[in-house]
Amino acid sequence: TQRPYHIEEMISAKAIAARIETLAHEIRQSFAQTDNLVVIGLLRGSFVFIADLVRDLDMNVEVDFLEISSYGDNTESSREVRILKDLRGTIEGRDVLVVEDIVDTGHTMAATMAHLNARKPHRLETIALLNKQTRREVPFTATWTGFEIPDAFVVGYGIDYAQANRNLPYIGTVVFEDNVS
Ligand code: PRP
Ligand code: MN
Ligand code: MG
Repeated sequence: TQRPYHIEEMISAKAIAARIETLAHEIRQSFAQTDNLVVIGLLRGSFVFIADLVRDLDMNVEVDFLEISSYGDNTESSREVRILKDLRGTIEGRDVLVVEDIVDTGHTMAATMAHLNARKPHRLETIALLNKQTRREVPFTATWTGFEIPDAFVVGYGIDYAQANRNLPYIGTVVFEDNVS
């Protein structure tokens, strides 16, 4: 039951790359005292962002992943966040940066922070490429944010609609053709 839609560009690949370069510089300065930063991507949505971000970081990092999902194939958050794959490495006493594609209701990041804080990292910071502040249901603010965006259904650069469109090199909005609301 897929409704017909098309995608309109919201943030170009060039604008994303420029923003990531600036953020990477800030992160490197913030973690200047850290010798082996653990960078954790939240699968699946963050896989493109983390790949570009770590290549701009120019410092020693360990890359790990946590698979956590709430949306499944729906457009609405289920608000039930499930951890599908846990970290491979340990984070106790270590400096950690969590990399997320988008913060919407906040449930995913709230659950992630609880899960990771229980392992007693020395420092736990977060970066989200996109933030939809108006949609927040539980309080969460990322340490670094790429872009504030309005409440539109976005895809691309790792973000899916029913598992499609993750491979678009830009961020686009889904425009449904059977309604104009
Ligand atoms: C999406 C997105 C974020 C989360 C944000 O993940 O990648 O992780 O939802 O929404 P929230 O702030 O309302 O929790 P999704 O559950 O679709 O899994 P995916 O990353 O595998 O696509
Ligand atoms: Mn996700
Ligand atoms: Mg998804």
